[in-house]
Amino acid sequence: MLKNIETFMAKPEPYAPSTAKFWDDEHISKGMLESHLNPDWDAATRKHAFVRQSVEWISKAAPVQDYRTLLDLGCGPGIYAELFHKAGYQVAGLDLSERSISYAKESAETHGLPITYEVCNYLTLDYAEQFDVVTLINYDFGVLSTENRAKLLAKIHTALTPNGLFIFDVFTPNQYSGLEEYKQWEYSQNGFFSAEPHLCLNSFYRYDEQNTFLQQHLIVTDQDVKCYNIWEHTFTESELSRDLDHAGFKIKGLYGDIAGAPYDAAGKTLCVVAEKQK
Ligand SMILES: C[S@@+](CC[C@H](N)C(=O)[O-])C[C@H]1O[C@@H](n2cnc3c(N)ncnc32)[C@H](O)[C@@H]1O
Repeated sequence: MLKNIETFMAKPEPYAPSTAKFWDDEHISKGMLESHLNPDWDAATRKHAFVRQSVEWISKAAPVQDYRTLLDLGCGPGIYAELFHKAGYQVAGLDLSERSISYAKESAETHGLPITYEVCNYLTLDYAEQFDVVTLINYDFGVLSTENRAKLLAKIHTALTPNGLFIFDVFTPNQYSGLEEYKQWEYSQNGFFSAEPHLCLNSFYRYDEQNTFLQQHLIVTDQDVKCYNIWEHTFTESELSRDLDHAGFKIKGLYGDIAGAPYDAAGKTLCVVAEKQK
C-alpha cells in the first residue's frame, strides 16, 4: 500500500487527472446531490437565495423576449434550470451525473415542467446554432485544463445562435492569495469520498506562474488508493478577454459575481457575459 501512496507524493504536473470518477461516482454523487439540494450550503450549488438572485439578474442581462432558448451546462439536479423555466426561457440542461439528471427529470415530471435534460459530458457537445444563451455556473470553467477550456469555448460558440450569450463565473487569483501550500490528513469511517473506513490525505498546491491551484485528496482504504485532483485555474480580466476573443466572443459585460454585483478589480470572483461574434 505504501508503494501505491508513494506514487502520489510528488507535486503533480499541471492538470494531471484524477485516477477515479468524481462527479458520477456511485458514492460521491450521493453526497453531491445532498449538497446541491441543501438551500443553506454554499457548495455544489450556491445558497438557494443566491440562486434566485442570480436567475433574476440573468433574465435581465438576457431578456427572454430577445433570448428564448437557454442551455445550462453542468445543470446538476436542475435547481437553476427550473427557475430559468419559470423566468420564461425554453430550457435544456446537461450534466455528467446520472444521479443529478434522474433527480432533475423526476422533479420536472412531478411539476409538469417541459425542461429537457440529458446525461452528457459537455466536452462532447454537438449543437449547432440552437441556443440563445448558454450558462456554466459555479466556477466550473476554471476546473478544466487549458486545452479543454479552448475546446469547450469552441463548442459553445457553435451551439449559440448569432449574437447569443455565454454567461459564466470564475475565480480570480485573489481567491488564493496568502494561502500557502499544505498537507493535512483525516480519518473517516464513512465520508464524502468513500463509504468505507479511509484515510484522507489532503494537499494544496500552488502553480502561481499559471494562476492555477490544486486541491488533491488521496483516499486510502484497505483495498486501494484513489487520487482526486480538483484543479482551479483562476482568471485575470486580460486573460479572459484574450481567450474569448480567440474563440470568437466579445465581452459584453463584466461583473463581480453571477448575480450582477459590480465588477471589482480586487475581487475574488468574476462573471462574464460574452457575446458570440459572427
Ligand atoms: C459545482 S457543480 C455546479 C452545478 C450547477 N451549475 C449549480 O450551480 O447548481 C458542477 C456540476 O457540473 C457537472 N459536471 C462536471 N464536469 C462536467 C462535464 N464535463 N460535463 C457535464 N457536466 C459536468 C457536475 O456533475 C456537477 O453537477
